[in-house]
Amino acid sequence: MDISRQVDLMKWPYSGLAFGVGLRRPHFDEIGDNHEGVDFLEIISENFMRFGGRPRHVLDRMIERFPIVLHGVSLSIGSLDPLNEDYLHALKDVVGRVRPPWFSDHLSYSSNFGVEYHDLIPLPFTEEALEHVVRRVERVQETVGIPFLLENPSYYVQMPGGEMTEAEFISEVVRRSGCGLLLDVNNVFVNGTNQGYDPYRFIDSIPTDRVVQYHIAGHDDSGDFLIDTHGRRIKPEVYDLYVYALSKTGPKWTLLEWDNDIPPLKTLLAENGHVRKAGEGVFSQRPAAVR
Ligand SMILES: [Fe+2]
Repeated sequence: MDISRQVDLMKWPYSGLAFGVGLRRPHFDEIGDNHEGVDFLEIISENFMRFGGRPRHVLDRMIERFPIVLHGVSLSIGSLDPLNEDYLHALKDVVGRVRPPWFSDHLSYSSNFGVEYHDLIPLPFTEEALEHVVRRVERVQETVGIPFLLENPSYYVQMPGGEMTEAEFISEVVRRSGCGLLLDVNNVFVNGTNQGYDPYRFIDSIPTDRVVQYHIAGHDDSGDFLIDTHGRRIKPEVYDLYVYALSKTGPKWTLLEWDNDIPPLKTLLAENGHVRKAGEGVFSQRPAAVR
């Protein structure tokens, strides 16, 4: 693993403020000509693997217009199964085509014993799981060859046997493996509320100097717990946490996630504008009014 190269790539220009949205099928026709306020795009890596057609054509057009980062959902970094070499090679193909500054996936697992769960399952916060993940992150970084970020996932049950807090687990994975952190502030807020911890103290406890990118999204309140739906506007409390985190990490790229009940592009761009206002407000003298 070449950590020095990774650290170099995590400096400017990738440490500036930038605001982006996900490239989603309902916006394929429009976003090429209508992207006011969009500095970059994020694509779901799996949506552009192993096939061409319209998605590949649209992607090729977007590559010419935007910086693009890759975000995966099925690396399954915590799985006990061997790393999926076919997947890694397909990922490498997409990386070669898009040439992103980094790629990311979740600190969780989505398959085990050959079974795909189609969900992100949390890991037990144990030393054994930590060492397992660190070994696999190193292997992934070596194979794909560009900086890798892990995202703090949302979760609704705590695996038994935990020996450390979630913040300690994430911090050690990042420190030992040399990967970067994709900090999803909505997930921090949702988890803090559901699991009973202070999301601000969570931010205080993680290595904020390893945060390379943010996710921000809307969530739903079921009454008993919060659900990370990515299907509505961002809640004021999540903006507050984002502003707090950004003030600690310095300017970073922020991606607005909206994956369910995907709105018209106009609404998405307006929400991206609110995120920009909040983010830029952190580094200007004027307080941001984002609500
Ligand atoms: Fe996320």
